[in-house]
Order: sequence, then C-alpha cells, then structure tokens
Amino acid sequence: MDNKILERIQTLNQLLKRYNYEYYQLNESSVSDQEYNRLMDELIELETLYPQYKLPDSPTQHVGGSYSNEFNKIKHAVPMLSLSNVYDENEIEQFNHRIEEALSLHQKYQYVCECKIDGLSISLVYKQGHLVQASTRGDGVIGEDITANAFNIDSIPKNIDYLQDLEVRGEVYMSIETLNQLNAIRMKNHETPFANCRNAASGSLRQLDPSITKERHLDVFLYTLVDPTKHGIHKQYDALQFMKKLGFPVNKEAKICNNVQDIFAFIQYLGDKREHLPYDIDGVVLKINELDLYETIGYTAKAPKWATAYKFPPKEMTTRLLDIVFTVGRTGRITPNAVLEPVKVAGSTIRKATLHNEDFILERDIKINDIVVIRKAGDVIPEVVRVVKERRDQSAKDFKMIDRCPICNEPIYREEDKAAHLCINIDCPARLLESITHFASRKAMDIDGLGEANVKLFVEQGFIKSVADIYHLKDFEYELKHLPGMGEKSIANLLQAIEKSKNNALEKLVFGLGIPEVGEKTAKILVNEFSTMDRLMNATMEQLNEIYSIGEIMADAIYHYFREQKNLQLIETLKEIGLNMGQETSQRSVKDSFFSNKTIVLTGTLSFIGRIEATELLESVNAKMTSSVSKKTSLVIVGNNPGSKYDKALALQIPIMDEEEFHHQLMEEKLILF
Ligand code: IVH
Repeated sequence: MDNKILERIQTLNQLLKRYNYEYYQLNESSVSDQEYNRLMDELIELETLYPQYKLPDSPTQHVGGSYSNEFNKIKHAVPMLSLSNVYDENEIEQFNHRIEEALSLHQKYQYVCECKIDGLSISLVYKQGHLVQASTRGDGVIGEDITANAFNIDSIPKNIDYLQDLEVRGEVYMSIETLNQLNAIRMKNHETPFANCRNAASGSLRQLDPSITKERHLDVFLYTLVDPTKHGIHKQYDALQFMKKLGFPVNKEAKICNNVQDIFAFIQYLGDKREHLPYDIDGVVLKINELDLYETIGYTAKAPKWATAYKFPPKEMTTRLLDIVFTVGRTGRITPNAVLEPVKVAGSTIRKATLHNEDFILERDIKINDIVVIRKAGDVIPEVVRVVKERRDQSAKDFKMIDRCPICNEPIYREEDKAAHLCINIDCPARLLESITHFASRKAMDIDGLGEANVKLFVEQGFIKSVADIYHLKDFEYELKHLPGMGEKSIANLLQAIEKSKNNALEKLVFGLGIPEVGEKTAKILVNEFSTMDRLMNATMEQLNEIYSIGEIMADAIYHYFREQKNLQLIETLKEIGLNMGQETSQRSVKDSFFSNKTIVLTGTLSFIGRIEATELLESVNAKMTSSVSKKTSLVIVGNNPGSKYDKALALQIPIMDEEEFHHQLMEEKLILF
C-alpha cells in the first residue's frame, strides 16, 4: 500500500514538473488548467497525509515557473510568490475561516477582490522617477531581466512623477483583439497560432529580441505595491489608487468586500462580465485589504495565506467531434465547422465549433469521431484546440475538403498563400443573403424590418439581387403588398426605414459593406481617420498601416477591398442613390491660429480625431508638422499611449499639450465643431 502511494507521489512529481516546463519554458501546455490543478491538489493532499514521502524538490514547494538561462538573472528584493487556488463557495468560506482563526476575535478586516488577469507577472523598479529594471517572476526568487522588452510595452510608464525608489508588480497580458490579429498573421504565415492570451503574452515578453515584444502590442495591469509602508500606504485598495495616480494602468474592476457574501456577489458579477471584457481573466483574486495584517496571517512555502485565487470553471472541455459541415460567409469564405456532442463550457452549451480552414484541420490531424479539446475564449466563436489522440478509435474517419460550394455547387477556389477557400460566384445565394442581412443589421445600416426572414423572402421573389437593390425595393411596393403576411403598415415602415438609412453616419455604411476584417470598431476608426468614403477608398497601404489599431492583415484587406471593381461599382451606385458618404472637413482660416508657424510633433492616438486628419488640420493653419522631436520643435501634442517622443519632449523641456488641451484649443478656434 505504502509503495503504491510513494509511486503515485513520484509520478505526480514527474508529471507536474513536465507540465511546469512546458508551460513556463515552452509557452504551451499539453494539459488543461483543470487537469493540472487536479494533479497538484492530489499531490498536496498526499503530501499532507504522508509527509514522510514528500520529495525535497516537490513542485508543491516552488512557485511553478523557473528561469531560462538565456536572460540575465535578477534576484527579487522581495520574493514573487504565487497564489493558492479555490474553486467554489465552500472553499472560499474555508479560506475566510482560516483568516478568522489566524486573527484575534476583535480584529476587523476587509477583502479587496480583483480580476485574475491571465498573463504573466512582471516586476518594475523605478529609481528617481525612471524605469530602471523589469523582470519576470522566474522561480519566485530569481527572475529574468526583461528590461529592454518592458521598454517596448507602451502602457508601462517609462517615467513617473515620483522620485522615491519604487517597485510595483502586475500582469503583462495580450488583449483578445491583439491575439486574434496576431494569430491571423501566424496562420497566414503557416505558423502555429497561440493557444490563448497567456501563452501569447508569455511568448511575446520572453523574447531575446525586444523588437518582437514591440510588434506584439502587449499591455499591463499593476496590482502590487512592494514595500507599501515606505510610501505611507496601509491598504491594498489605497495601493491600487496610489499606483493609478502615478500613471500606472490599474484594472478598474476592483472591489472592497466586507464578507463572503460580498465576495460571492462580485464573483457572479465578474463571471457574467468576463465574456465581454477585452482581455482574458481566469478568476478573481481575493486579498486582505489591511496590508499590516499580512505578517500575522503569514505565508506557506509558495503562497501567502492572506490571499487566494478563485478560479472560474474551465473554459476548455473535451467532447466528441461527430461531423464536419461547411458554411459560406458573406465574403464567400468557406469555413469547416465541427458538429460536437453538446458540452457545457463557461456556462453555455456548445454544439458547434469552428475549424477555421483545411490547413487547421490537417495540421492538427483532426478526424471525424475523434475526442477533441474545445475552448471558448471571450466573445470569440468556440474552437477545437486539439485532438486527444490516445482516445482515437477505429471509428475515426479522415477529413476531406470539399471542392464545390455547399450552397451553389459552383467550384470553389483557394487564393494563393491563403488558407481559406472561397466561393467566388457573386450570385451565390449564401453570399447575397448574408451580405444583405449584414448590411441591414442594427449595428450597420439599421433598417428595421429587413431581418433575415424578409431578406430571404425578397431574394427568393427576385426583388433584391444585390445590396444596392434594397434602395429600389420601393419599385416593388405593389408586389410587396401582395406577399403573404405583409401588412400595408409594415411595408410603409420598411420603405421609410430604408429611406432614412441613407442619412446614416458613414461608419455604419463602412461596417455594413462587410469589408473583410472590418468590424464596427474598425469602421469607426477608419471614418474618424479619413472622414469621407472617397478618401477612405483612396487610402494607401502606408496610410492604413500608420493607424495604431489597424494591423497588417486588416490594412491589406481594406486596401484590396477598394481595389475590386465590383466593390467600387457598388459604392458608386450607393453614392448615386444618395447615401451619406461623409463630409470633407471645412476650409479653415489660415490666419491667427495658436498653431500657425509652430513646428509640431504628434505622438500617441487621439480619440476625437484621426492622426491624418489632425495633421492636415494643423498644416492647413500653417503649422509645420514633423515626425521627430528636436530642440527646434515648438510643441508636442500627446495622445494615448505616446511613444518615446513624449519622453524626449520631457527631456528637452519642449512645451507639451495633452489631448484635452488640444481639443479645447481646436474648439476655441472653431477648427473643429465638436
Ligand atoms: S497577486 C503574492 N493579483 O496570478 C500575491 N496576482 O496564480 C501575488 N495574477 O503570480 C499575486 N492577476 O501572475 C495577484 N490581481 C492579481 C492577479 C494576479 C493575475 C497572477 C499573478 C500570480 C498568479 C497566481
């Protein structure tokens, strides 16, 4: 019996060490978080019951990570600990009970509950207001020197208005949007996409070449103030506010909780919100607010006892892939989808998951009837992550890509260098139906009464053969009235809604066109930047690439959309019909502007005006716009996420104008109207 226990302990040691190595060194793991935690919990339990068998280098005794030999090593002034985990309300009650026991009866305390950001931890050291060192956690005692890389993360302040030595810690992460853009590029280049935001963040930060970190657009949230009393801080919540005041990004979802009920409510709140956050969180961190109580409550070998992490139920699950079916998108893109044995993931039942394209399936060797791991991340469509090969049986059937469109039966085509297959039959009903429904949808042209069912009906009746035909629907008023289920009033309303949509803001039209890669947000950014359809259509690759939030793939897709004859024709027709195509910004007076004759540098993004428009606007009042800061610069206008130009302006003591002041000045001079 004892031998069996010893053997199991040894196996668990080996397994967990291997998984730690995969996770921390290779940035990819072959087990789900759920499975890893289950094994770790089993080992902790066995070691508690049989302490005589506990191995000296057991993974339960170390913070999970270890440091790589490729970076310089940095010994942390204060060890970077990990957190224990809890998985349900009962375990939270027990955690709270242990705190109560550690403190004397009359001792009052609160909790601060924070998002558990799914990234990797970082420590930042500032001396005399300057960032001098950044390191990863490593094994908790010794971390990796990633200072050069930290300088390439825009949201990490390089200078702060605080001269005392300071160390802050937090989480470097990659937003879901950035991950999706990065993965799209990786797939295009036949590289393996990152499995999740955390792996992508880790793989992007722990790069010996800091320029790779820069390209990956990482972000950071700070949550720990090291040695807080030195700065007169005695509460975690105050530490968060203190860091925020100094200009550090601090996650806004932090809440003081007075009891476990408050904690449960906050977990519920974040659990609901989680899917809509632009970054991945995998739980909620519960911390005692009173920092002075930390020593009394104490520590275990690898984690504090005054904090713990509640982990959300797993988003990854295994299920059987029953079949592979194909759908055709409004751009003609053909997507293979997995039909799954229904399974619950993160609160919803999943029956289908995307398999992206033929390469995705072949690279992962996915077969029909395989047991697969599926994942749901944020708002993204669920996807099949990998096959559990050990569970493959005789019933597994090879996948074969189709060669004809499943809707119109015309041959399909694969663009050179691209993974996707396309149906290029412009009259393919799947494309028409989807493109019209999308065009009329609420977030696009918002034409009430032109939902999927009606679009289908009008297409079938031959009233609509293209997007532009929506605006000729009035010619069929008589026929419409005779369609079953169509009342006179609803037709009048529909035709009115169609007319009204002609005056919609340009961004709604840009979104409605269904330009590949262009969502609602990007449409807004494009209109903010170019103001009119004509200018957007003529945008060069260079201009598109210059826009901060537009990646290479998006720029490419937008550029090519406006080089397709049929798209230009559609826009021309819509223009003739009288749809709003945006306004040129009005002529401005050249004389007497505050900006006239100044040499100006613009850095960072401005939320109320695009960079190109701002540049043109300033040039129109005789400002000289330049791209680098020198002694000759008379003014630096600073938007969000400014680059090194901002630091240089500070160093050279060049006058700086922030976004609010810039907006105010433009309004004052009536150079803009709102
Ligand atoms: S506090 C001693 N707060 O989770 C306590 N950690 O599983 C130090 N994490 O190593 C950590 N969000 O990398 C803390 N709001 C948050 C966090 C957070 C994410 C990470 C961190 C830590 C790991 C533990």
